[in-house]
Amino acid sequence: MAFFRIIGGAALRGTVRVSGSKNATLPMMAASILADGPVRLEGVPRLADVDTLSLVLGELGMAVTETSPHALLLQTVDRSPVRARYELVRQMRASFCVLGPLLARRRKAVVSLPGGCNIGDRPVDLHLKGLAALGARLRLEKGYVLAEADRLRGTTVALSGPRGSSVTGTANVLSAAVLAAGTTTITGAAREPEIVDLGNFLISMGARIEGLGTSTIRIIGVEQLAATTYPVIPDRIEAATLLLAAAITGGSATVTGVVPEHLEEVLNRLRAAGSQVESGRSHVTITANRRPRPMDLTAQPYPGVPTDLQAQFTALLCLADGRSTVLDRVFNRRFLHVAELNRMGARIEHRDSRAIVTGAGRLSGTSVTASDLRASAALVLAGLAAKGRTVVHQIHHLDRGYERLDQKLGQLGAQIERSNAGSC
Ligand code: EPZ
Repeated sequence: MAFFRIIGGAALRGTVRVSGSKNATLPMMAASILADGPVRLEGVPRLADVDTLSLVLGELGMAVTETSPHALLLQTVDRSPVRARYELVRQMRASFCVLGPLLARRRKAVVSLPGGCNIGDRPVDLHLKGLAALGARLRLEKGYVLAEADRLRGTTVALSGPRGSSVTGTANVLSAAVLAAGTTTITGAAREPEIVDLGNFLISMGARIEGLGTSTIRIIGVEQLAATTYPVIPDRIEAATLLLAAAITGGSATVTGVVPEHLEEVLNRLRAAGSQVESGRSHVTITANRRPRPMDLTAQPYPGVPTDLQAQFTALLCLADGRSTVLDRVFNRRFLHVAELNRMGARIEHRDSRAIVTGAGRLSGTSVTASDLRASAALVLAGLAAKGRTVVHQIHHLDRGYERLDQKLGQLGAQIERSNAGSC
């Protein structure tokens, strides 16, 4: 199994360009099922998750070809397959986003429930509630959703749950409603930039959508959606992870190809931690020349600090001169990184959905094991700051959502190398 070998201590410096957004790309790939023509996505990140969804779509009668290193062409060649099987969906839960498009365009779907994962339970009740409200007939059988519909009918549906809005739940219902007869109003919709991007992608195909970026989205159904070429937005989570890598090593770096507006609250928290942060039209520069200040951080739906950065901020706060608390309002069990950070000398207590971090002064390199995508990133950041050598095992978790992270960090002066060899 591949691992990273990191020699910590270097203050990262330099400029690096961010890749396209994983969480914008995936629902758009699923929504390409809706199109009556070829869909070309540009600026697509090269990730394991994109490869997995390409396999799912291939089994659903879609031809998915990489026309250049960062462009995909997706075209329906056979509308009869409607089954997304467990063996693939369990690998990548966002595959569940094919449900809405299949119902809207093919009027039938058999999609495996995605199951849970390392960051907590991952229910899909809000997805099913929204699709049923549009007129879909759904039943659960042997771990699959069996769904059928005549033409979906516009409706009003509330999509927020006990933990707020659902990002892929909004994606599934939005993607279904664009071909429904009549008007659909989704209240409690996700406001994330990735949903705005999905909506703009659908509009580029001829959909009629208002209210993107707010919690009330209004869709006027159309008869069909046409071919399109669409550039995905940059990955705000990767951009922030790279900025946090500079912050945790006391360095100074510029991340280019970003949308600073997508990172407003994140940049405010980095400033609160004592970094100087300056942003331009499509870049952010951070200079962290002091030990981070402690803070109370809450991960929550956009525009708050994203839960996908909670682990990485926790790693930074391990070096703060004082006590911090980190609360995750979205996934209350997303703390698998805590035990591994403590093995590196951090002093973190995990209670309920919060972590209490006592600044540890120094982290020490050792062998650690990644457990999920963003926890892996936190361990890499900790390794960059730690004294000595850190080996991060199971980095296939990282390759799901970060394109060539080791090379990008290396561009900033990090001593990090990927290895598949037996001994580390
Ligand atoms: C999306 O997951 C992202 N994935 C996640 O990123 C991200 O952490 C999450 O949104 C929150 O921002 C993609 O976009 C592919 P949710 P999603 O539905 O849609 C509860 C990463 O690291 N909920 O917004 O699956 C749920 O349990 C990944 O890139 C219900 O109760 O998350 C959670 O507490 C990890 N019922 C909250 O809502 C539902 O039907 C938010 O979940 C659906 C969700």
